[in-house]
Amino acid sequence: MLRQKIKGIFSSPPYVGLINYHEQHAYAYEIFGFDRKDELEIGHLSKGQGKEARDAYVKGIAESLINCKKYLQKDYDIFLVANDKFNLYPDIAQLADMKIVNQFKRPVLNRVEKDRSTAYAEIIFHLKEK
Ligand SMILES: C[S@@+](CC[C@H](N)C(=O)[O-])C[C@H]1O[C@@H](n2cnc3c(N)ncnc32)[C@H](O)[C@@H]1O
Repeated sequence: MLRQKIKGIFSSPPYVGLINYHEQHAYAYEIFGFDRKDELEIGHLSKGQGKEARDAYVKGIAESLINCKKYLQKDYDIFLVANDKFNLYPDIAQLADMKIVNQFKRPVLNRVEKDRSTAYAEIIFHLKEK
């Protein structure tokens, strides 16, 4: 039984079809001898960014948020950093029974991955219980 619950979460979840994190962290699986679970990775690059992948992403992130609720105080604050080009976070919030109370725009000027020539921005979503 948890005696003390947390006030909030600040996290950067994976995004839909952008990065293969199992490959990015392959060294860690090798060094520590962890089993790879590629099929459980939310937003895995190989699934693409089509409708099916986006729906699975919405469900996966919403389920993670719902799972966190048992560790959170009632008046919790969640901050999630995302490059939400498909506008999925309103659906994620809805499915998790949360509301987006604020959005902070964050331009990313020095990307270390992919094409540096295209502008890339992220939003920090502030979520609370509905
Ligand atoms: C954008 S990275 C952020 C990592 C870390 N939260 C940080 O802020 O530095 C997203 C992370 O989500 C992890 N991830 C993807 N699917 C997951 C899942 N089903 N369960 C747990 N972690 C997952 C990826 O492996 C990756 O490390």
